[in-house]
Amino acid sequence: MRVSTVLVCVFLLWVEGSLADTPVNCTYEDLLGTWVFQVSKGGHNKTVNCSNEATGVKMVTVTLEKLSVARDEVGNTGFFTLIYNQGFEVLVNNYKWFGYFRYTEQGQNVTSYCDQTLPGWVHDVLGHNWACFVAKRVEPIPPRTEVNPLQPHLIARRLLQTPHKVNIDFIQTINSRQSSWTAAYYPDHEKYSQKDWFYRAGGPASRVPARVRPTHFTAEGAKMASALPERWDWRDVDGVNYLSPVRNQGSCGSCYSFATMGMLEARIRVLTNNSQAPILSPQQVVSCSPYSQGCEGGFPYLIGKYVQDFGIVEESCLAYVGKSTPCRIPRSCGRLYTAEYSYVGGFYGGCSETAMMQELVKNGPMAVSFEVYLDFRFYKGGIYHHTGLLDATDPFELTNHAVLLVGYGHCNKTGEKYWVVKNSWGESWGEKGFFRIRRGTDECAIESIAVAATPIQTL
Ligand SMILES: *[C@@H]1O[C@H](CO)[C@@H](O)[C@H](O)[C@H]1NC(C)=O
Ligand SMILES: *[C@@H]1O[C@H](CO)[C@@H](O)[C@H](O)[C@H]1NC(C)=O
Ligand SMILES: *[C@@H]1O[C@H](CO)[C@@H](O)[C@H](O)[C@H]1NC(C)=O
Ligand SMILES: *[C@@H]1O[C@H](CO)[C@@H](O)[C@H](O)[C@H]1NC(C)=O
Ligand SMILES: *[C@@H]1O[C@H](CO)[C@@H](O)[C@H](O)[C@H]1NC(C)=O
Ligand SMILES: *[C@@H]1O[C@H](CO)[C@@H](O)[C@H](O)[C@H]1NC(C)=O
Repeated sequence: MRVSTVLVCVFLLWVEGSLADTPVNCTYEDLLGTWVFQVSKGGHNKTVNCSNEATGVKMVTVTLEKLSVARDEVGNTGFFTLIYNQGFEVLVNNYKWFGYFRYTEQGQNVTSYCDQTLPGWVHDVLGHNWACFVAKRVEPIPPRTEVNPLQPHLIARRLLQTPHKVNIDFIQTINSRQSSWTAAYYPDHEKYSQKDWFYRAGGPASRVPARVRPTHFTAEGAKMASALPERWDWRDVDGVNYLSPVRNQGSCGSCYSFATMGMLEARIRVLTNNSQAPILSPQQVVSCSPYSQGCEGGFPYLIGKYVQDFGIVEESCLAYVGKSTPCRIPRSCGRLYTAEYSYVGGFYGGCSETAMMQELVKNGPMAVSFEVYLDFRFYKGGIYHHTGLLDATDPFELTNHAVLLVGYGHCNKTGEKYWVVKNSWGESWGEKGFFRIRRGTDECAIESIAVAATPIQTL
């Protein structure tokens, strides 16, 4: 009986874990090779609930080859990408497959089964025909157990008990050690608890993935870069602003949703010369997306996918409340869709400074993610870089925060290159809600993972 008690506990922990967090940690190398997809009975529409579906009616064999080629058993070729360290997407023979790698949690330990997936979703590229599947790599990979580095439940509990007190000395130290950027005391910081800050800067489910090294600068890249303008800013292109207003995500880990909505809002304005300017509903993603974890966090790539599969309504239809509320979308609301979504550089790991600059000028703002250290919270202006300073009195946790890249330039005096980025911490933070951060050195991993998505304008 003891054994079954243990199993029940494990199961409960796993369920709790799966709702709050995806601690799995798999790599690109794990993904390369031949996989068998066991598909459930098809004929479903997008309302299919894959956690209910029995699998194994049909088998599809797909081989994933460097750098991003998927090949099926009859020789059709397509595309694949790793999604962070969490799962993968495959596009072959006009079907899209997406699944998270399988994992279990036991206390502080997480075991990643990088040769298997949890039940995932498959549908044709038009989104008409849906089914569920589980994938298994033909050559097994031994399970890997590691201590969950963020232990979200423990962190949340620890931070909850700690009031947020701003340490003025820390701010002064930042300002005395460097002159590239300035830190300031924000009176309204104290209305957020330590736990709120953990969520504002990403939340547990946007945990720092294994850092991906950006692609090396190639000669071809250098040639393309030299053809780009010296500076660019979507707030002012020949005097015209193409960005929607800065918003405030509150204490919900919804940055990934604000970054993606901000990208779609800006790109619709670019596509229509500002004749369409919808404000989209980040709350819909928080409440309804099966591809993210509500206020616990999520990833912009998968929100590009969510908007392609399900569409997104406007803010006026489903207003932001900053909580993981049940999904209730009024039927009468129109929806906007994405035609495409992709990692900048083609696939996860393919990102570079030049690819980001080209994407920005050609197609518009894009979602980027970076590591948030404590000093960043106090940013008031200038070109940010992490100072390395820590405040021993502050129980801060490193998080990964999604934001919107809108421009680039360099400082006339010092030559220091920077990106211009829109945050979702309100207009009174930073440079009117924006910040600048060092460019060209992968500062805080900001050049590692950029995501682009193309909205379809409404007629
Ligand atoms: C989707 O399928 C479910 C049953 O599988 C059905 O109840 C529902 O009406 C369908 N929705 C649409 C939009 O076809
Ligand atoms: C899918 O099914 C599971 C298990 O029955 C249930 O817990 C979950 O709420 C369902 N999800 C949706 C979106 O209906
Ligand atoms: C976690 O792993 C360590 C070593 O890998 C082991 O000693 C420990 O018992 C594990 N803890 C649990 C709760 O399984
Ligand atoms: C994930 O796995 C990689 C490679 O196996 C390892 O370097 C990294 O520390 C692990 N943990 C996280 C949180 O990425
Ligand atoms: C775009 O909008 C501006 C301002 O309304 C207008 O002056 C310009 O002619 C428009 N451009 C095109 C290509 O329609
Ligand atoms: C830097 O130089 C550019 C181009 O010469 C100019 O447009 C811009 O106003 C200058 N910026 C500052 C802050 O002086």
